[in-house]
Amino acid sequence: MRAVRAVVALVFTAVAVTILLGGTSTAQPAAQSAAVERLPTPTVYLRDCGVCHGAEGRGTDSGPSIAGVGRALVDYEISTGRMPIPQPDSKIVRRPARYSATETRALVDYVAAFGTGGSGGPDIPRLDVGGADLAAGGEQYRLQCAACHAWAGDGGALAHREAPGLHRASATQIAEAIRTGPGTMPAFGAAALDDEQLAGVVRYVRYLNRPRDRGGFGLWHLGPVPEGAVAWLVGLALLILATRWIGEKS
Ligand code: HEC
Ligand code: HEC
Repeated sequence: MRAVRAVVALVFTAVAVTILLGGTSTAQPAAQSAAVERLPTPTVYLRDCGVCHGAEGRGTDSGPSIAGVGRALVDYEISTGRMPIPQPDSKIVRRPARYSATETRALVDYVAAFGTGGSGGPDIPRLDVGGADLAAGGEQYRLQCAACHAWAGDGGALAHREAPGLHRASATQIAEAIRTGPGTMPAFGAAALDDEQLAGVVRYVRYLNRPRDRGGFGLWHLGPVPEGAVAWLVGLALLILATRWIGEKS
């Protein structure tokens, strides 16, 4: 009886230790993006953009003028991987971004310089999203955005035009889309949504991501870190049980 108890306790402890050690390592580090070749920005622009938008951004038969569209729209198009497209008639959809953050900033600056003198489009919005009014943002979202992007931000088809899902957009990209109106989306200027309301809508769109399951088992929709924490707690509970059981005198 004692021997059986000892073996069972040993197995019990081994399982608990495995869970304890394994539970802490469930959160994977984000994949590093591959190194990209370093070329001067004007060369990158001519190779990747100028072929369609012209050497000075004034447009060609293959692409519209982008002189003076403003930093927000250029950053939106590049950072969501919509630009560059492989062919002039390619679908304009979100793709993995081609450039690093540094290269993106350099390209945005380079293209923005084409617009000097003209009436420039909006700059990249800087927002205090953390302090924004979530409830007011939700109200604005349902009024101004849900018709196209659906109430949960999953996107949808409207009159044969597709509005994309919003779950992969960063706070900056959401604000850029709202202010610039890319593609067939209408632009919302400060008269439609002031900066405070804009921050609220951005916060709400980010909030819409939370009910989604991000890998692993959907544990109260909390994601990989709490899952690790719970595995840890279960392991700890098992250890305590095992210890008490071994300690019990029969
Ligand atoms: C193969 C041709 C092609 C290439 C290469 C290309 N674009 Fe475009 N770009 C287009 C077309 C076509 C559109 C218009 C899409 C539409 O109808 O909304 C566009 C739209 C844009 C817009 C939005 C313009 C507006 O007013 O809506 C920006 C900004 C832009 N491109 C920037 C870039 C940048 C920066 C690069 C290089 C990194 C680039 N594009 C590469 C063809 C191209
Ligand atoms: C009339 C339909 C329509 C309305 C209204 C609309 N959008 Fe859009 N939205 C679109 C379309 C179409 C696109 C794709 C634009 C493109 O080609 O880049 C888009 C793109 C976006 C993107 C980029 C998504 C990504 O990750 O690639 C975001 C973010 C976004 N919209 C947010 C909003 C918000 C927030 C509102 C409300 C303030 C709103 N939209 C209102 C149609 C709409």
